[in-house]
Amino acid sequence: MSASAEAPEASAAAALRFVQAGQTLGLGTGRAAEAFVRALGQRVSEGLEIRGVPTSEKTEALARELKIPLVTLAEAGQLDVTFDGADEVDPHLNVIKGYGGALVREKVVAASSHRLIILIGEEKLVDQLGDRGKLPVEVIGFGEALAERRLQALGFKPTRRMNQNGEPFITDNGHYILDCGTTGIPHAADTEQEIRSIPGVLGTGLFIEMTDAVIVQRGLEVEVLEKD
Ligand code: A5P
Repeated sequence: MSASAEAPEASAAAALRFVQAGQTLGLGTGRAAEAFVRALGQRVSEGLEIRGVPTSEKTEALARELKIPLVTLAEAGQLDVTFDGADEVDPHLNVIKGYGGALVREKVVAASSHRLIILIGEEKLVDQLGDRGKLPVEVIGFGEALAERRLQALGFKPTRRMNQNGEPFITDNGHYILDCGTTGIPHAADTEQEIRSIPGVLGTGLFIEMTDAVIVQRGLEVEVLEKD
C-alpha cells in the first residue's frame, strides 16, 4: 500500500478548501470519504454551518457521531458539492466506484450535486477504466442470472460479491453486487448504457462525465486535477 493510500488526511484537508458555509454537501463512502467527513466534523464543531447527505448507512452513522447536521436527499433538493472516493480515475476524470458497495447511492447523490469532487491516492490513477480488474454492478437478486449471462456476453467475468464470513454481500439497498472481472473498458460510456439496459440492473460503478475535480494525494503532497 502506498503512502497516499495509508494517509488520506492530506487530501481531506485540501478538500475542505472547496467547502463554503451554508452549503449542502454529499458525503461519500470509503476511507478517503471518511477522512473528509472526519475533517468536516472538526470544522462543524468549530462553528461551520453546513448540511450533509450521506451516501451509505456507514457514513450516516459516522456523520451522526460527529454531529454533522444531516438532511434527506428529498429535503436537500439540489446539493452544492459531493465529496467521495473512487477506485479508478482515468485521464478524462471518468471514474469507477463501488469497491465499497455504495455505488448506487453514491451515483444518486453525485447526480443531485452541482459539483462532484473525488479524493484518491495516486495508485487509483489509470490509463483506461477497468485497469485494476473489476467493475462493480448492483443487481436485484431475481435478475442475477440474466445479468450474469448478459455481462458475460459483453466480455465481463461477473461473480457475486461475498462477505468474509462467506455470506453474500448485501448493499444498503438490499441487493447483490456482481464484481465484473475485466482487462479494460475501452468504450466506457457505451458500456455503461449497455449494462444499464439489462433488466434488474440498478446501476454500475461507472461515473462518466460526472467529476468536476480530483484531489490526488501523492505521499503528503496533494494535486488537484480539474475538468477541462
Ligand atoms: C464505495 O462504494 C466506493 O465507491 C468508494 O468510494 C471507493 O471504493 C473508494 O474507497 P476508498 O477511499 O476506501 O478506497
